[in-house]
Parts: sequence; C-alpha cells; structure tokens
Amino acid sequence: MITWGCQMNVYDSGKMSDVLAPLGYGPAESPADADMVILNTCHIRERATDKVFSELGRLRVIKETRAAEGKQTILAVAGCVAQAEGAFITERAPYVDIVLGPQTYHRLPEMVARAHRAAGPVIETDFPVEQKFDFLPETAPSAERAVTAFLTIQEGCDKFCSFCVVPYTRGAEASRPAAAVIAEAKHLVARGAREITLLGQNVNAYHGAGADGRDWGLARLAYALADIPGLDRIRYTTSHPRDMDDDLIAAHADLPALMPFLHLPVQSGSDRILAAMNRRHTADDYRRLIEKLRTARPDMAFSSDFIVGHPGETAADFEATMQLVRDIGFAQAYSFKYSPRPGTPAAGSPGMVAEPEKDGRLAELQALIRAQQDDFNARTVGLEIPVLVTGAGRHAGQINGRSPYLQAVHMDGPVSLTGQVVPVKVQGLMTNSLTATLINASPTQERASA
Ligand code: 5AD
Ligand code: SF4
Repeated sequence: MITWGCQMNVYDSGKMSDVLAPLGYGPAESPADADMVILNTCHIRERATDKVFSELGRLRVIKETRAAEGKQTILAVAGCVAQAEGAFITERAPYVDIVLGPQTYHRLPEMVARAHRAAGPVIETDFPVEQKFDFLPETAPSAERAVTAFLTIQEGCDKFCSFCVVPYTRGAEASRPAAAVIAEAKHLVARGAREITLLGQNVNAYHGAGADGRDWGLARLAYALADIPGLDRIRYTTSHPRDMDDDLIAAHADLPALMPFLHLPVQSGSDRILAAMNRRHTADDYRRLIEKLRTARPDMAFSSDFIVGHPGETAADFEATMQLVRDIGFAQAYSFKYSPRPGTPAAGSPGMVAEPEKDGRLAELQALIRAQQDDFNARTVGLEIPVLVTGAGRHAGQINGRSPYLQAVHMDGPVSLTGQVVPVKVQGLMTNSLTATLINASPTQERASA
C-alpha cells in the first residue's frame, strides 16, 4: 500500500487493508515482495498526478521481474487519480489490473478475485447509491493500538471552488449518520485511541442523521463525542470558513476536548481573487471569524492553506494575501502554486500567472509563514502544556507525544505513560519538534494545566 495525499487517503488505505486482511493479505516490506501493490493516489495538483505515472513505470519493471520468477503481481490504482482518470490509466499503463475509485473500496475483494481470473483490467469508479461505510469492516482485529486515530465522517464537497477537483473526484457532500460515527469512535477508544481526528473534505459542512431523528451539525456531533469516556482529544479537518457556524464556535468555548488548533483554509487575502475562486467570503469575513474563535477560546491557534498565482492574481492581490497572513499570525500553513486542473473553471480562465512570478510569490509567502511558525514554536518554550504520549521515542528512556497544537514533543519518561495526557514543561526547540520535561508522572486532565 503506497499512500499519497491527504489524511482521508491515509484513513482509506487503512480501510482497504482491513477489507483485504481476511483474504490473507498483510503489509509487505517493499513492492518487490508484494503480491499486490495498491497506489492510493491524489489528484489535487498536477505534480501529485504525475508521481502516480512515474511510480507505475517503476512498478511495471518489478511486475515483469516477478513474472519471470513465476510470481503474479496485482497492480491497483485507487484514490482520486483513479476516480478522475478511470480507463485512461489502463490505456496509458496496460499492466495495471485494477482501477478503483474512493466509493468502491468495500468491493475490493471481489475486484481482486476478478483480477486473478485475468479477464482484462477491472475498472470501478461509480458513485454507488449504497453507502460504502455500511460495508466496510471496523478496524481489523490485527490493527495496532494507536493512540491517535482518524475517523471519516463526511466525504465530498459542494463548494466548487474554481481551482479544485474535489467536487468532481469525491463527488457531492455526504455525511455519515451520527450513530455510526459515535460507534466507530467508541470502537477506536476501546482499541486505545485517546485522540480522534474527524475527517472530511469539507468536514464542518457535516450534517448527519442524528440519534434524535434530526440532522446534526458538527457542533452537535462534537458534544456527543466529547461524552465518550477515554476520548481526551477531538480534532477535525478540513473546514471551510463559510461552514464555521456559531454553534461550532460555541463548542470550542465549551469543550476542553476540542483542541485549540484549527486548520481553516483561506486560499487568498484578496477579495477580488476570493470572488474569482468562488469562495463566497471576503478577507475581512475571515479576519472576523478568527476573532470570534479567539474570543471563544483565547488559546486557539490557526493553520491554513494558500494558493499563489490563481488566474488573474496581480502583485497587489498577492500583497493582500501577505497582509492577511501578517494580520492573523499562523502557527503553521501550507502554500501552493496554482496548478490548473482539467475540467475546473479556473483552468479555462484568462490571466494565467507566469511560472517565475508564481515561484517568487510562493517563496515570499513561505518565508513569512516559516517565520510565523518559528515564532509560534519559540513562544511555547518555557510553557507548561498538556502532551498526549504516543509511544516510545528513538532513544532509550525517551517518549514521544503531541501538543494541543500538533507539535511533536520529545521527553524522557516511561513508555507506560503511552495513551495518557501529561503536563510537561517545554524546554527547547528542534527543527520540527519540541523537547520537554515531565512535570510529574501522574496523568492530568487537559483543562487542569496550561
Ligand atoms: N492548485 C494549487 N493548489 C490547490 N489546492 C487545491 N486545488 C489546487 C490547485 N488546483 C490546494 C488548496 C487546498 C489544498 C488541499 O490544496 O489550497 O486547500
Ligand atoms: Fe475544494 Fe475545499 Fe473548495 Fe471543496 S471547499 S471545492 S474541497 S477547496
């Protein structure tokens, strides 16, 4: 299983492993040892798609070498490239056996059986009416105990931002019923999860059927999940500013388990470009929203996504993005050069920005974001923070954990603390992590410390 792209793909790869486990499949060390290779792919930018075809070229050689030794190798392409490109994949790479879209993973065993019969490539990219979640197994009994887990609660997106393929590859927004989400969360907690990240392409648009027969929004779901004993931390990603409603903001004020760190993509700080992007909010709407969230939960920190060089973006538009970043101050953020995706409205728009211009803007934005991230991390040094211990560290006597802000934390301590939230004092910074010392070895409530 080779996984690219977002956390939804990581979650889906786990589910594909789970449906294949009863057939006797388990993880392989390398493609050369594998009876089947599944590429779980990402289509969000052109570079992500290109990677798939170059990896397929490499896998072809492995498949041929193994065939010469009398071994069969099934090659499957899953994920958003499979959904978007469909049969085009097997035209370009005829040695691929299975092409399966994200809504068909529960049928993977049947596809594998068909591929074994070798009656030509198997291509499944429908959006079936049945809910795939009803057919996917709960985390397989062999699954390792993981302190942090993902849980997909909705898929698809109805927002149709000008640049984005997601509404086409993942389809219309669909939410899982609250009872199914709560059952899966309880199951994950019983298996050792203490932190669950709720996933969805547009997760705060969640509106699943509730236990009371009404539609529940994400806020209502968060309150219900926060009642599960042993579930210390809840996160959700990725959100759209338009769906950040007052109930959800209130939940951040009310629920200590809802972590004070939010990934809230804004994409641009220019109202002209936001309109061209079909984001349906302004830069000031976003500033006001951040203010409301900070009022509800003063220790809240933010992450975001930015695109530079969307068609029509001028130097002044880009400067408006830089100003928004300066105004907000992010704990971290991702930024990308605009990449035209076939079939999306922006790909056919006039005013394409030249590549060197995009490179320059990206470098400038990334330098600012890096400086803000370093500054944010530096400000945690000396603080007492609650850390969720995730397991043994690289060195003897060392353990690893996660801060409320998703910073990796290393400290000396017993592995027996795994799964507990402990107070630590942050001592120093490494490139991408913090070093800390335990304040005392007894577990604490999240709210009892800084
Ligand atoms: N070009 C560049 N970046 C994109 N993203 C989505 N589509 C594109 C594109 N065509 C970025 C957005 C989104 C993140 C997941 O990827 O910033 O939030
Ligand atoms: Fe894509 Fe996110 Fe916009 Fe939906 S809200 S179209 S997933 S960028």
